[in-house]
Amino acid sequence: MKKSMKRLKGEDAFDQFYSKLYPGRWDELKRALLSEKNYVAYYNPYLVQDYEGEKKSSHLYEKKEWDAPSFIGELKNYYLLDYASTLPVKALEVNSHDTVIDLCAAPGGKSLMIMGHNPLSLVCNDLSHQRLQRLKKTMQDYLPTEQREKITYTKRDASKWGLFEKNVYSKTLLDAPCSSERHFLEKKELMQDWSEGRSRRLAMLQFSLLAAAIDITQSGGSVVYSTCSISHWENDEVIRKALKKREGKFEVLPLSLEDESERTEFGIQFLPDKSKFGPFYLCKLRIC
Ligand SMILES: C[S@@+](CC[C@H](N)C(=O)[O-])C[C@H]1O[C@@H](n2cnc3c(N)ncnc32)[C@H](O)[C@@H]1O
Repeated sequence: MKKSMKRLKGEDAFDQFYSKLYPGRWDELKRALLSEKNYVAYYNPYLVQDYEGEKKSSHLYEKKEWDAPSFIGELKNYYLLDYASTLPVKALEVNSHDTVIDLCAAPGGKSLMIMGHNPLSLVCNDLSHQRLQRLKKTMQDYLPTEQREKITYTKRDASKWGLFEKNVYSKTLLDAPCSSERHFLEKKELMQDWSEGRSRRLAMLQFSLLAAAIDITQSGGSVVYSTCSISHWENDEVIRKALKKREGKFEVLPLSLEDESERTEFGIQFLPDKSKFGPFYLCKLRIC
């Protein structure tokens, strides 16, 4: 019986898995995942301009609907993104002394926000050539030349990074590839391929990416891990595995709760049945 349940695929298996994970909440959460997304505008800090909407935090403004970004002179005015997905950059606390790496960087919203903090340097890495090209175009559209000169672009498998560099970066962002359940629900044709095994396989990749992130970050530096998945295998369970396999190498730092976010065992999570934003999970580590 157990074996045949594991082999279950498609929307029934999806519902079965997530209703167990979110008892008494799944119907509402599933509906919310299918509703329209809300965006905030990250106003370009390298432009002087008037801001619209309600301030969420520095350079981030909320409004019901936004026009598409446009150029003011040579740079674009704002970049639209989910508010919850801006929080990994806030949690990194980048300053002008930091050498930063964004291991899964494309299409580039978070890299762009990192550059807004004027770091010493930033490595933008992504395995996908096409997505890396999009990221470069974004940097071209939003950043002045002196900021763009601080960026190195690479196209490597980030899970292997620890093999050739160790203890190098002061801040590491790992916004990992994940199940992205919202995407599965929106594209019904993808749903037939969903299985719990897929989420567990992604969790294995996420763990190897996180292990690399830990290995390449300096002692005293920090790593922020994030996903847009609602599967525990891809969130807290990845951190739990790292705590075992990289024992003593890092500690989990508490993150302050934002409006409408919820605490998980190791991090915080935004779920769209309780929040206008998300789904999104993040966790912050300090390297020992
Ligand atoms: C969630 S997206 C990153 C979004 C990005 N941080 C942003 O804010 O725009 C995950 C990215 O990881 C990349 N990726 C997948 N496997 C990878 C690997 N082994 N090494 C590096 N990048 C990988 C994908 O191409 C994808 O662009």
